[in-house]
Amino acid sequence: MLVPDLFSKFDPLIEQRAALLETGLTDPFNLVMEKVESPTVAICNGKRTILLGTYNYMGMTFDSDVVAAGKRALDEFGSGTTGSRVLNGTYAGHKACEDALKDFYAMDHAMVFSTGYQANLGVISTIAGKDDYIILDIDSHASIYDGCALGNAQIVPFRHNDVEALEKRLRRLPPEAGKLVVLEGVYSMLGDIAPLKEMVAVSKAAGAMVLVDEAHSMGFIGEHGRGVSEAQGIIDDVDFIIGTFSKSVGTVGGFCVSNHPKFEILRLVCRPYVFTASLPPSVVATAATSIRKLMDSADKRAHLWENSKRLHAGLRQLGFKLGTDEPQSAIIAVIMPDLETGAAMWEALLHEGLYVNLARPPATPANMTLLRCSLCALHSEEQVGEILQMFAAAGRSTGCIS
Ligand SMILES: Cc1ncc(COP(=O)(O)O)c(C=O)c1O
Repeated sequence: MLVPDLFSKFDPLIEQRAALLETGLTDPFNLVMEKVESPTVAICNGKRTILLGTYNYMGMTFDSDVVAAGKRALDEFGSGTTGSRVLNGTYAGHKACEDALKDFYAMDHAMVFSTGYQANLGVISTIAGKDDYIILDIDSHASIYDGCALGNAQIVPFRHNDVEALEKRLRRLPPEAGKLVVLEGVYSMLGDIAPLKEMVAVSKAAGAMVLVDEAHSMGFIGEHGRGVSEAQGIIDDVDFIIGTFSKSVGTVGGFCVSNHPKFEILRLVCRPYVFTASLPPSVVATAATSIRKLMDSADKRAHLWENSKRLHAGLRQLGFKLGTDEPQSAIIAVIMPDLETGAAMWEALLHEGLYVNLARPPATPANMTLLRCSLCALHSEEQVGEILQMFAAAGRSTGCIS
């Protein structure tokens, strides 16, 4: 009997990858950082490399207070909790981290998960059940789709950032059915922001609850860094905000904040919260310290906007095609004509001493290959200048620009 190989479904991807590597290209998905010197510089292949693809938006990973808090917690509480939040895995540090989040967002409730992925997985699958509807932007992050897959609700996607499409979908649903509209503040592939004000208004008019994933805007966008919901003045109308510690906060972990009066029950019914170990004490200590410092980071936010504008204008001037006409966030996506050229450009940049993210389908919208740049508040003006010079040299050597 022929034994079916469960891996045969991956053959097309294995072949595509092998063909790319046969051309002599470095594997863009297997880069090792031998040493990380700061939020903006690492040593890769023995070479000083500027980091422009780490989502370390606010540069908190080497903040002396953050690092000291982590070391202290490691000494005082040990290396891990070895338990779920609902058993032996809630330490004083987890509560302190949730208090920091409540203060940061000025909200009543905060729940910390082990990753942002798990926060989406848990909250979405738990609150939208059988007979409910989840209405989501088609370009939503994988963790949102996986949250939908884990639950039993009906999924209704709508065209990216299209308010009318959202309204039309909502109008077709039974008025009495439970509805959860899931949106993102910043979409991480192209770095574009959502028209949340209009979307939240049509969602509320249709009786839907709204969840906004602010993974890529926390710490940076909005007067207090609360995200696009804050910047567009509708944060009080959002029922649930999801976020991560793996970007502006500078460590690992995820969370949901909310003013819903029954929110705390999620701690008992949300499987990705209950059936997994909690974050180590050192991680929640670094997160809490970082979140509190982010409250008071208006100067860094202003500098990050300057960096974003400078890089966007410079790349445009060089002749690159970008994901947005204007800089809308700290992500600037450079659109490549195809995967081969994208991989060649990625490697040429690495040789110049610059690391960016190569993004390809299915993670990208419309089958695009992208070189995604994520800026940091600690990139200096000189570094942004260096980055532009590297893009010019790599772009010319690969024929991306003339
Ligand atoms: C929009 C969005 N949501 C959630 C996540 C998951 O965050 P984490 O890295 O904490 O799992 C990401 C991470 O890439 C993201 O981009």
